[in-house]
Amino acid sequence: MDNLLELIFGLFVEVPMDLTMESRSVKPWVKTMLMFIAINFMTLLMALIAIDAYGDPDAVTDWYVSLAAAVIFFAASVIVCIIGHKRSWLGKRVCPLQTPTATVYRNTPNPDVVIRTAYLTDLDAIAAVEAECFPAAEAATREEFAHRLRHYANHFWLMFDADKLISFVDGFVTDEPDLTDEMYANAALHNESGAWQMIFGVNTIPAYRRHGYAAQLIEQAILDARRQGRKGVVLTCKPEKVPYYMKFGFKNEGISKNSTHGEAIWHQMRLTF
Ligand SMILES: CC(C)(COP(=O)(O)OP(=O)(O)OC[C@H]1O[C@@H](n2cnc3c(N)ncnc32)[C@H](O)[C@@H]1OP(=O)(O)O)[C@@H](O)C(=O)NCCC(=O)NCCS
Repeated sequence: MDNLLELIFGLFVEVPMDLTMESRSVKPWVKTMLMFIAINFMTLLMALIAIDAYGDPDAVTDWYVSLAAAVIFFAASVIVCIIGHKRSWLGKRVCPLQTPTATVYRNTPNPDVVIRTAYLTDLDAIAAVEAECFPAAEAATREEFAHRLRHYANHFWLMFDADKLISFVDGFVTDEPDLTDEMYANAALHNESGAWQMIFGVNTIPAYRRHGYAAQLIEQAILDARRQGRKGVVLTCKPEKVPYYMKFGFKNEGISKNSTHGEAIWHQMRLTF
């Protein structure tokens, strides 16, 4: 029964949600609701056509039956929609069978590598690269990445050499202008319609460093944020990395008061479009 419900939620909640998530001008729950109404309207229409073609002709002419069916369909849509969203808010992927579609970037400067956004199944590779690049006190944990991927897999930029993950950049979107430590820990704060693209992590495994790979991913993240109509991109970094990010146009806003994780000093940097 649970599996059946998950399948129904996946097909009728998550798929429409993913399909409509791209637009920033409409709130996600409104988009889902609209999609539901459209789907149910079509279902009802098809049922009526089927009855008309093969069934009792009297049933079609009975307006009350049609109206009652429409109301029941609509009420069921609303209930499924609310339950589906509650489960999403709880951080659960509604249907484990359904994976979001990743964007694979074409025409990147280096044809030897593949750049794409993430799937939930990239979790282990991402956690392994992070552990290789950051000391334990600063590294995000596997659980944190699992949470992040459920909320914003489309804001991970991954680079692969064949099947090997060699570099990635990630960060959510928010209306808050300043990057805080809470944002690293709580992926549920992601707001797909937010103004600022945050960058939480920039990693390249040691064997692939100094080839411009991280730079390519940062450029792609900046390009996407620009195309999505954000105000800009914000990150924090250690003092020695300030010149590196200045090359992309980031301005140093000084030592961050909101980010002190790993007991390190972090500078906040902003690129405003
Ligand atoms: C920081 C980090 C992500 C850089 O990754 P990367 O893929 O090597 O980054 P890039 O190749 O774009 O740039 C790194 C340097 O190589 C240089 N470089 C780029 N292409 C090069 C090439 N073909 N030949 C020689 N040098 C090159 C860049 O100019 C840059 O130099 P700089 O540091 O003096 O500015 C990587 O070192 C890392 O994962 N470090 C540990 C985690 C970390 O500190 N992350 C940043 C948190 S703020």
